[in-house]
Amino acid sequence: MGRESVAVPLDRSLHLSERCNMKIPAGIPRIDDYKTLLTSEDFARIEQYSNRFIQLNRDRLTGYGRKWVADSLHQWSRQWEYPFVFQQVEALVSRTSPRRLRVLDAGSGVSFFPYFLTSTWDALEVTCMDHDKSLAGVYSQIDGNLDESVDFVPGDLRRTPFPDGHFQVIYCISVLEHIGEYERVIEEFQRLLSPGGLLVVTFDISIDGSADIRPKEAQHLLNSLRKAFPVVTQTPDDTLLDAIRDSDILTTQYIAGVDKHLLPWKSPLVSVLSCLRNRRIPRRWGYKNLTCSCHALAKEPCDGSETLEADGNV
Ligand SMILES: C[S@@+](CC[C@H](N)C(=O)[O-])C[C@H]1O[C@@H](n2cnc3c(N)ncnc32)[C@H](O)[C@@H]1O
Repeated sequence: MGRESVAVPLDRSLHLSERCNMKIPAGIPRIDDYKTLLTSEDFARIEQYSNRFIQLNRDRLTGYGRKWVADSLHQWSRQWEYPFVFQQVEALVSRTSPRRLRVLDAGSGVSFFPYFLTSTWDALEVTCMDHDKSLAGVYSQIDGNLDESVDFVPGDLRRTPFPDGHFQVIYCISVLEHIGEYERVIEEFQRLLSPGGLLVVTFDISIDGSADIRPKEAQHLLNSLRKAFPVVTQTPDDTLLDAIRDSDILTTQYIAGVDKHLLPWKSPLVSVLSCLRNRRIPRRWGYKNLTCSCHALAKEPCDGSETLEADGNV
C-alpha cells in the first residue's frame, strides 16, 4: 500500500478547468475510481466551497466538531458520498430544469453540503432534518453568516410533519445504518417523495461486523429500498455480499494505510488505553474495517412519464 495522501486532489496545481470529470458509479467504490474522483473538477469545486464554509464558520462548528467532525468532507467515505449525491441532483436538475425543487437532507447533522447545493442552484429549497434538536442553534448562526440559507426542522425521520409528496428529492447520507427501524424511515420516504422524485441513499457496511451495519443487514437494507422504490436510477446488479469480497474496494483499512486523518476514530492504541482507563475490555485491536455504498432510486411517476409532480415544476 502506498503512502500517498488521498485527502486532497493529488495535483493541487491543476486549475479547475483543466480537470476532467467522472461519472461516479453507484454501489461500493473502487479504490482507483476514488483516486480519480479526488482529481476531478466536481471534487475541486465541492472542496473549494467546503473549505470556505469551514473558514467562515469555524467558531459555530466547534461544538458539532466535538460530537463528530467539523470538516465532514475530509472523511474517508464523505469524499465519495457528497460528490455522488451532487451528481445525482445535477442530473435531475439538468433533465427537468425545475423552477422550484424541494429537497430533504434526511439525518443532516451539520455540514457545508446543503448550503453548497442551494448556492449551486437557485431553484433548490433544502430542508435539513435531524433528531438532534441542539443543531437548530448551529443552523441559525450559520444562516446568519452566509448569503445562502437552508431550513432546519428538528424531528424523527420515522415520523415527520411534512405532507404527502412534499419533496422532489430526498438524500440520506450515512444515517439508515444507524437506525434500527430503518423500514419505517423508508416508508416515510415513500410518503414524502412526489411521483418521479429522486431518493439518494448512502450507508456504511461493517466488513468485520464490529460496527453499523453487518454485510447481511446491509443487503437487507438495500433489498428493502429496492422493494419500496422499484424504479432504480443507479444501483449495481451484483449483491453487496459479492462486492465486499473484492480486494480493490475502498475500505477504512486502506485509508488507515494512506491517511489516518480521514478516519473519525481515535488511533487503536488510544482506544485501548481509554477502554482500560474506563475499566472496559477492548472489543478489538486495530481500526474497524468499513466500506460504504451509494444508491439512487426513484418513486414511480403517476403516468409512466419522467415528469416530477410538484407545484412550480416542469
Ligand atoms: C453519521 S451522522 C450523518 C450526518 C450527515 N448526514 C452527514 O452527511 O454528515 C447520522 C445523523 O443521523 C441523525 N439521526 C439518527 N437517527 C435519526 C432519526 N431517527 N431521525 C432523525 N435523525 C436521525 C443523527 O443525529 C446524526 O446527525
